[in-house]
Parts: sequence; C-alpha cells; structure tokens
Amino acid sequence: MARRQRITALCSLSSLLQLGLLLPLLPGLCGGTPLEQCPGGRSCGPARPPVVLVPGDLGNQLEAKLDKPSVVHYICYKKTDTFFTLWLNLELLVPVAIDCWIDNIRLIYNRTTHSTMSPPGVDIRVPGFGQTYPLEYLDPSKRTVGMYFFTIVEALEGWGYTRDDDVRGAPYDWRKAPNENKEYFLALQKMIEEMSKKAGGPVVLIAHSMGNMYTLYFLNQQPQAWKDHYIKAFICLGAPWAGVAKTLRVIISGDNNRIPVISPLKIRSQQRSAVSTAWLLPYAHSWPKDQVLVQTPSTNYTAQDYKRLFSDIGFEDGWSMRQDTEPLVEDLTPPGVAIHCLFGSGVETSEAFRYSDKFPDVEPTVVSGDGDGTVNLRSAVQCKRWVGKQKQPVIAEGASGERTREHVVELYDCGLHQDRAVLPLRLEDAEGQGDAAVTD
Ligand SMILES: *[C@@H]1O[C@H](CO)[C@@H](O)[C@H](O)[C@H]1NC(C)=O
Ligand SMILES: *[C@@H]1O[C@H](CO)[C@@H](O)[C@H](O)[C@H]1NC(C)=O
Repeated sequence: MARRQRITALCSLSSLLQLGLLLPLLPGLCGGTPLEQCPGGRSCGPARPPVVLVPGDLGNQLEAKLDKPSVVHYICYKKTDTFFTLWLNLELLVPVAIDCWIDNIRLIYNRTTHSTMSPPGVDIRVPGFGQTYPLEYLDPSKRTVGMYFFTIVEALEGWGYTRDDDVRGAPYDWRKAPNENKEYFLALQKMIEEMSKKAGGPVVLIAHSMGNMYTLYFLNQQPQAWKDHYIKAFICLGAPWAGVAKTLRVIISGDNNRIPVISPLKIRSQQRSAVSTAWLLPYAHSWPKDQVLVQTPSTNYTAQDYKRLFSDIGFEDGWSMRQDTEPLVEDLTPPGVAIHCLFGSGVETSEAFRYSDKFPDVEPTVVSGDGDGTVNLRSAVQCKRWVGKQKQPVIAEGASGERTREHVVELYDCGLHQDRAVLPLRLEDAEGQGDAAVTD
C-alpha cells in the first residue's frame, strides 16, 4: 500500500521549497539506480552525484578587514588586525554601529569604469569558498535568524553526503552582479571539475533565488561539451528569472525587511550601492508594458521607465548600473542542462508601490500579487520558456499552500524514484531537525 506522506507546516515556504521539494528530487536524478538502468545507455555516474550549492542575494557570509583613513563616527573601528564577520553580525546592526557597518559594506561606483570598489581602507572577502558553512548559517554564531542552507545540508548528510567533500558551497560577493565576479566563475568551474573527477560523474547544481541568475550566467558561458560532461542537473529554487518587483522599493526608499531595527532610509544608501539590486529590477520582457510598478501623485512608472525613475529619485548611477547588468541574462538563453525549476506561489508578494508626494523619501503603500513572498510568480515561471528550447529536460513545478506539502507526494508517487523505500525514511530524518515534520 502506498503511504501518503504529508509535511506539516512547521516551516516557512522557502525552507519547504528547499527541503520538501528537494528531498524527492535528488535521488530521482538516478540515485539508487544501478548504473546499467540509466536511460539512453549513458552512464549516470555514481549513485550520489556531487552537489554544489549556490546561494542567493545576502545568502553567504562576508568578512572585512579595516585600515581606513577616516570613519563616520568615533565609535567605528578604523583599523582591525584581522578579518571579522561583516555579514551577518547582528551586533553591527544596532543604532550608531550601523553607521560604521554601512560605511564598510557599501560599494562605490565608478561611472567611468562601470565598476565598483570598497571604500578606502576596507578589504572585503568571501570566506569559505568550497565549504558549506558560509551559507548554512549567515551568522557564524549560528543564531536561528541566520539559518539558511543548514536544513538542506543536514538532509544531504543524512543521505550519506559529506560536507565540504561531495556537497560544497559556492559563496560569492552578492553585492555585485556577474560582470564583476569573473574570478568567482573560474573558481566555480574549477571546483565542479574537481568534484566531478573525484566522484567519477557529473555534478548537480542547486541554486536559490539570485543564485539561479548567477548559475544561469555561468552555464551560458560554458561550452555545451563542458556542460554535457560536468553537469548532471540544475535545480532552481525560487528563481527570479525576470527580476523582483520588491527591488524597486529597495532602491527608491530602502527596505529594512530583514532587519527590523534599521530605518529604511538609512539603509537605502547601502542598498542602492549594491549593483545586484539594480540587476534584479523587473525585466520588461516579462512584465506587461502598461503595468504600473511605481505610482506617485504625478507619475506612473512601468518596467520601461527606469531611466526616468532613476533620474527622479536622484540616483543616476543606478541607471548606469542597470544598463551594465541588464544584458547579462536578459535573453534567458536556455542553460543547456537538465532543469528542475521549483517555485512557490499563493503567498502575498510585493508587486507595485504607491508613494505619496514625499516620494522617494517615504514608505510606500504596497500592492501585493502572487508569488512566494519575495519572488513574483510571473518571474519564477519564466523557466517554462525553456521547455522544447533545449534538448535536455525542463521540469517546472509550482507549489502553493497545501499543494506545496502535497507536492512532495506528487513527485514521490510519480515514479521519479527507483528506491521508494528510502524516501519516507529521509523525510522522517528531517523531522528530527525541527524544520519539517512528516505525518501519515
Ligand atoms: C574612476 O576610474 C577612473 C579610471 O580608472 C579614474 O581615473 C577615476 O579617478 C575614478 N573615479 C573615481 C571617482 O574614483
Ligand atoms: C497612474 O495609473 C493609474 C492607474 O494605474 C491611473 O489611475 C492614474 O491616473 C495614473 N496617474 C498618472 C499621473 O498618469
């Protein structure tokens, strides 16, 4: 008798997307299948394909070392002997200290070179490339608030994976867009090649949110022969393929969403300086031409009106940043690898913003639409355009509310699994982590 599995809603949609939908997928990609049973006569490689995790915006730790000519407040450190955690460290985000933090994490844009730099005397580095810790917990003290890929990595270890060996992290400087992260992509390529060689088979990429845009850019740069050899599949969780409406608010008036003690207008200068924010503005290819995204008493702005918008909010560099980054993945060229694209819906998601005449220095009224709470549904579903556009399979799966939970069942029952006995056990393992629970 088939057991009906149900994941109870102890977890947020995003962790459900990560854990609940992922659990059935990985072994589905040939895990538990003897090599000779793999389709097309091609070797599927080892039962446990190596996994690379690519985090989203704000999705991994950053460290800083200081030797600054000046500081914005006398309490700020001017010089440090070693690197310290700049993201995420909640102690740096309290009043006054946050001014120091903003002055360290902001980028300075050069309109001539179209590139960014840290402020003088600030050295920023991404710790732990190739390891999972910088994305399991954003905060090294492992406070729950900063928990990110931990649940997934724990689940993978439960399946026999080993951290930093056959499951590895690919953290990056998420303040920047791919055009300024060339070394990252070389390191990522090298790591994939090493992992694949060691395992004797291709690698599975699992990306979340903006990490999907990074991964798409990466795959678009690789020759098809390289992808055929090294990549087994690309699992996309909550991908903003066509941008995210919420970034408009971030750029116009700031958004303290994740850190409630911070004034939005204060954090705005830092948020505007992160080029990746401009990169994630909604793309005209997927938003209706006449859909008003930002409304003020005097003007309506659509996805066609960014030049005017940036000018009206007094942030001309933003328009330049957008032009620098818009072409990077705007064409949504098919990645040329097997795709499992998973997205959530049924959660109120910012879709448009109405401002008073205090625009842009005021909080807007938010108009909500469908999505996963961050990524608009219309953006997340754009992976569907790849169906039939590449020879590798494209599986796009949506899930909302109750269906999100049932979704696990659907995938489980639809025969993706050769080894049906394994899955319920794995889900029960997850129960012990307190993030998802399974009941019959
Ligand atoms: C921008 O870069 C150019 C060329 O490297 C340099 O000459 C100029 O001083 C830079 N501008 C700023 C504001 O740093
Ligand atoms: C903006 O669009 C709304 C409808 O979305 C319309 O009612 C309003 O008159 C427009 N405002 C301007 C200034 O065009």
